Amino acid sequence: MITLNRLLLFVFSLLLCGQAQAVSAVEKRLDNQRLTPLFSPHRATTSSGKPIGLHQFEDARVCSGCHTEIYDEWRESIMSHAWNDPIYRALLNKASVATGGELDNFCTGCHSPVGLTTGRITTAGNRLPPELEHPDEQLPGVDCEACHNMSGISGLDNGAYILQAMARGESLKLGPRADASSPYHQTQYSSLHTSSEICGTCHNVSHPLNGTPIERTYDEWYESPYRQAGIGCQDCHMAKISSKAAVMGPLRQDRASHWFAGGNTTVLEYFGRTRNAENARKLLQSSAELALLEPPAELRPGARAKMSVKVSNTGAGHKLPTGFPEGREVWLDFRVLDAGGNELYRLGRVVNGETEPGTRNFKVHLGDKDGKEVLVEVWNVNHIISDNRILPKGYEVVDYEFAVPADAEGPLSLVVDLNYWPFSQAFADALLGEDKIEVLVENITRLEQQIPLGQAPPWRPSPDGMTGDSGRHR
Ligand code: HEC
Ligand code: HEC
Ligand code: HEC
Ligand code: HEC
Ligand code: HEC
Repeated sequence: MITLNRLLLFVFSLLLCGQAQAVSAVEKRLDNQRLTPLFSPHRATTSSGKPIGLHQFEDARVCSGCHTEIYDEWRESIMSHAWNDPIYRALLNKASVATGGELDNFCTGCHSPVGLTTGRITTAGNRLPPELEHPDEQLPGVDCEACHNMSGISGLDNGAYILQAMARGESLKLGPRADASSPYHQTQYSSLHTSSEICGTCHNVSHPLNGTPIERTYDEWYESPYRQAGIGCQDCHMAKISSKAAVMGPLRQDRASHWFAGGNTTVLEYFGRTRNAENARKLLQSSAELALLEPPAELRPGARAKMSVKVSNTGAGHKLPTGFPEGREVWLDFRVLDAGGNELYRLGRVVNGETEPGTRNFKVHLGDKDGKEVLVEVWNVNHIISDNRILPKGYEVVDYEFAVPADAEGPLSLVVDLNYWPFSQAFADALLGEDKIEVLVENITRLEQQIPLGQAPPWRPSPDGMTGDSGRHR
C-alpha cells in the first residue's frame, strides 16, 4: 500500500513539477545505481553491503571433488582464465596506468568477481604481468563461487550483480534445480540462473564515466528473435547433456554443461585448452552461411565482373561477431582463380598482422572525444563511430568487382572464406610484444563455385565505378 501511495505521489509530483525535474529524478536514480559506493565505478554489490570475508569463498578445486565433470569443463573455459588471460592483463595494465588506478575496480570486477568483492584488488596487482605473479596471489577468474553465490542483480551492465555474503559453514549454492541436495552445502533454486540476465550483467559493458555502450552482447540478444523464441544464452553456451551434476548425485538428462565456448580459440590454445578450442571452432562454424547472389552463367575475358556475396548470421544469438569491440573481427577473403589455380584477384588477405585495406569486414569502430578512432585505449572512448556487424538472423550483402584478364583460362573458381579472429596479430603484438601469442585465423565457412569463361565481349568494357556498397538487411 505504501508503495502504491508513493507511486501515486511520484506520478503526481511529476505532473506538477514538469519534465525538467522528472528527468533529473530519473538521472539521479541512474547515477546512484551506476556509482555504487562500495566498489565504484563497478556496479557490483554484496548482500551485506560490505566486502566479503577472504575465506568465505572456496577455491574451485574444492567443488571439483564432487562436481568433477563440471569443474573439468569450466577449467577449460575462457571464463576460468578471465584473470590470467595475457591479453586482458596487458590492457588492464595500460588502463590502470593511464587512469591513475581509477579503473582498477572496474575491469577486475568482471574478470574476477571474487577478487573485487573480497577487496583483494590492488593497483600493483593489476599492473603485474601474469607470468610474474605468485600462484598464491592469482585471483580466481569468473569461478563457481562468483556465479553460484549471485543472489540477484541490480541492473544489466557493468557487473551489477549482488553477491551473497555468508557465515562460515552456512554456505548456500544457488542453482537451476529445486530438487538438488548436497551433503556439503545448502542448495536453493534460483530463477536468475536459468535466465540470460545472469550473463547480461557482465556481457554488457558501458563506459563507467560517460555511459557509452561499448560492449552489448546481452542487448543484442535481447533485441533478437531468439529472445522472442525463448532461446537464451544458456541454450547455446551451456547446452544440456545427459550426465551427473555431482558424482554422488543422480543422473540428470539435462545437466547444464560448463564449457562456455565462444569464438576465442587463440587464448584457449595459448593455455593448452585444445578440447574446448575444438568446441569453439564448431560453434563458430555453426554461426554463419555464405551464398553467391545471382551467380553469372559465365564470365568474359577482358571484361569487368561483378559479384554479390550474401553473409547470413544463422547461428549466433547476437551480432556476428559480438563482444570485445577493439578486437573481434569477421571478414571475407575473396579469391578468383583461373583453371591452373593462379590467383587473378584477391581481397581480404592478412598483411602485416592485419586484414588488408579495403577488406570487407564486420566490426565495431570506437571513437574518442576528438572523433579519432580508438584502437587500444578503450577508456578514451566516448562514441561508436560505426558498427556493421551482422544482426542475429540477419544478413549483409557484399559486392565485389574485378577485371578478368583477356588471356584468362577458364573455368574460373571463386573461393570465398568467411574468417574470424578475436583480435589481430598486430593488436596482440602491440600489447604483448612479438611472438608472445599466435593469433589463429578461424574459418567459419567457405563458398566455392566454378564459373565458365565465355567469349571476349565485342564491345569495350564500360569503366563504371567500383562501388562496393554493402547493404544492411534483416
Ligand atoms: C561433497 C560434495 C560436494 C562439494 C564439495 C560441493 N558440492 Fe555442490 N552439490 C553436491 C551435490 C550432491 C549436489 C546435488 C546434485 C544433483 O542433485 O544433481 C550439489 C549441487 C550443487 C549446485 C546446484 C544447486 C541447485 O539447486 O541447482 C550448485 C550450484 C553447487 N552444488 C555448487 C557447488 C560449488 C560452487 C561448490 C564449491 C564451492 C560445491 N558445490 C561443492 C555436492 C557437492
Ligand atoms: C542461438 C545460439 C546463441 C545464443 C542464444 C547466444 N549465443 Fe553467444 N555465440 C553463439 C555462436 C554461434 C557464437 C560464435 C560466433 C560469434 O563469435 O558470434 C557465439 C559467441 C559468443 C561469444 C564470443 C564472442 C567472440 O567473438 O569472441 C560470447 C561472449 C557470447 N557468445 C555470449 C553470449 C551471451 C552472453 C548470450 C546471451 C545474452 C549469448 N551468447 C547467446 C551462439 C549463441
Ligand atoms: C558464468 C557463471 C557460472 C560459472 C562460472 C559456473 N556456473 Fe554452474 N551454472 C551456471 C548456470 C547459469 C547454471 C544453470 C544453467 C541452466 O540450467 O541452464 C549452472 C548450473 C550448475 C549446476 C547444476 C547443473 C545441473 O544441470 O544440474 C551445478 C552443480 C553447477 N552449476 C556447479 C558449478 C561449479 C562446480 C562451477 C565451477 C567449477 C560452476 N558451476 C561454474 C553458471 C555458472
Ligand atoms: C562476472 C561476470 C560474468 C558473468 C556473470 C558471465 N560472464 Fe561470460 N565472460 C566474462 C568475462 C570477463 C569473459 C572473458 C574473459 C577473457 O576473455 O579474458 C567471459 C567470457 C565468456 C565466453 C567466451 C567468449 C569468447 O570470446 O570465447 C562465453 C561464451 C561466455 N562468457 C558466456 C557467458 C554466459 C552464457 C554467461 C551466463 C550463464 C556468462 N558468460 C556470465 C564475464 C562474465
Ligand atoms: C561489465 C563487465 C566487464 C568489465 C567492467 C570489463 N570487461 Fe573486459 N570483458 C568482459 C567480457 C564479458 C569479455 C568477453 C567478451 C568476448 O568474448 O568477446 C571481456 C573481454 C575482454 C578482453 C578480451 C580478452 C581476450 O582474450 O580476447 C580484454 C582485453 C578485456 N576484456 C579488458 C578489459 C579491461 C582493460 C577492462 C577495464 C577497462 C575491462 N575489460 C572491463 C567483461 C568486462
